[in-house]
Amino acid sequence: MSKRAAAAVLAGAMIVGLSACSSTGGSSDGKKSNGKLVLGFAQVGAESGWRTANTKSVQEAAKKAGITLKFSDAQQKQENQIKAIRSFIQQKVDVIAFSPVVESGWDTVLKEAKAAHIPVILTDRAIDSADTSLYATFLGSDFVEEGKKAGDWLVKEYQAKPGEVNVVQLEGTTGSAPANDRKSGFADAIKGDPKFKVVASQTGDFTRAKGKEVMQAFLKAQPKIDVLYAHNDDMALGAIQAIEEAGKKPGTDIKIVSVDGVKDAFTAMSQGKINFDVECNPLLGDQLMELAKKVKNGESVEHRIKTVEGTFTPEQATAALPTRQY
Ligand code: AHR
Repeated sequence: MSKRAAAAVLAGAMIVGLSACSSTGGSSDGKKSNGKLVLGFAQVGAESGWRTANTKSVQEAAKKAGITLKFSDAQQKQENQIKAIRSFIQQKVDVIAFSPVVESGWDTVLKEAKAAHIPVILTDRAIDSADTSLYATFLGSDFVEEGKKAGDWLVKEYQAKPGEVNVVQLEGTTGSAPANDRKSGFADAIKGDPKFKVVASQTGDFTRAKGKEVMQAFLKAQPKIDVLYAHNDDMALGAIQAIEEAGKKPGTDIKIVSVDGVKDAFTAMSQGKINFDVECNPLLGDQLMELAKKVKNGESVEHRIKTVEGTFTPEQATAALPTRQY
């Protein structure tokens, strides 16, 4: 081989070597230099209006940020989420994010992600693992605080009214962080006054259909219901149908306090059917993409990032309705 040909071969080999190296490493803007950052996202499902808005936010934000999103819908089943996470590990994505269906049972699969050096971000819902090194950060609401806000409203609403207040509760998915925390936050807020009695409490799985079904059962079994506390708006909206079909006026005969703050609930509030709504913000997409870039680059991030949320009276909801994004 001539000296010139040997030099050309060497230069070619160096270029191949360089690009092979940078394809596994990150550059300063969080992207692989030969392609986009790849984020595997294991979503809970499509159980509620809140969830639909959350999915849309994540998908749009990924596009805007130039991130390749591998999206999986677990249909509210933990085993599907575990499968999706394992598949992301196999595909060697850069970052894994997921919103855990339930709080427990994640250690094994998250240890597998850790062993593969793939950082994990929890979004929306927490896990109850003692090993907090299994995830880089948790971005989402304070669900205990949301339950407390609902309970505080109830206490204030009935401050000057004597007599027992019978409350029925529609719980979210059994074992999920929002169901556990919204229940305990609410119980804490009302425990100081024995006139508040939670006479029935059952899961409606965060869906409209189940919310309606369980409310129908409550109405049959309970002779006096003063208040419905629903862990999300979809269950409250399903329950409203059941209350109306039973010949009662939601918001008047049975007061309703709910969580989420989706458009459909605001419409119901403008019609006097829901009395108070605690906001839970689903628009986490942009923050998630920022975090994905940072953790991919090895930058330090806060281990817990809480979303900022408010509460809505019917008047506030009616005013917010025309510009509500979800
Ligand atoms: O985890 C957030 C909760 O999940 C929302 O309140 C509910 O609507 C959703 O399904």
